[in-house]
Amino acid sequence: MKIAPSILSADFANLSIALDQCERGEADQIHVDVMDGHFVPNITIGPGVVKDIRKRTGLPLDVHLMIENPEMYIPQFVQAGSDLITVHVETCENLSTVIRQIKESGAKAGVTLKPGTSLKDIENVISEVDLILIMSVEPGFGGQEFIPETLDRVRKIKKMIAALQERNSPEISVDGGVRLSNAKKIVGAGADILVIGSAIFETKDPVKTMNMFKQIS
Ligand code: DX5
Ligand code: ZN
Repeated sequence: MKIAPSILSADFANLSIALDQCERGEADQIHVDVMDGHFVPNITIGPGVVKDIRKRTGLPLDVHLMIENPEMYIPQFVQAGSDLITVHVETCENLSTVIRQIKESGAKAGVTLKPGTSLKDIENVISEVDLILIMSVEPGFGGQEFIPETLDRVRKIKKMIAALQERNSPEISVDGGVRLSNAKKIVGAGADILVIGSAIFETKDPVKTMNMFKQIS
């Protein structure tokens, strides 16, 4: 199991401290939540910040775009140093085209969906993406409660991937409300990556907490 600490819950005035903690905590990648105030009612990070984060860490940058018209901004986020870019199906008129755009610009591509969006909406692209991000809270804010129905969605998506018979095997990531208390269950349902924000950065010792998450498998 991999962990992707979400810096959304870190101190934005001290991001380099958070990045250093991620390295010491042996995080597998850094999850960067990009919000535009339109697709979600919150505004966070743009490509300029991603560029500076890139200079400070060698860890892969897993960029979660919660923005409308993602195709307009993908080039900037790739140029800034994103390793993987995940887009919301709800924001793409032609999902396959957007996924191709990400890959052709040299990054890995992920797809995600809100908790209420049908898994059928991403069925066609399972064979094309590197990552499927299952949202376990409504996108927009850290610190929310994990939606229990997510476990079933993870099991279902796992089956859909198995049906591809290794023609493609995207990783499954779960994002929102992940805590030490529910992590084992989520991994048991089939998650390969846990995105964790507040349950890491709102603890006294984020490095130690990351180590504790890493021990769950
Ligand atoms: C929510 C973001 C998440 C968020 C998770 O829209 O996509 O990545 O940071 O935060 P926690 O782990 O606190 O739920
Ligand atoms: Zn996220």
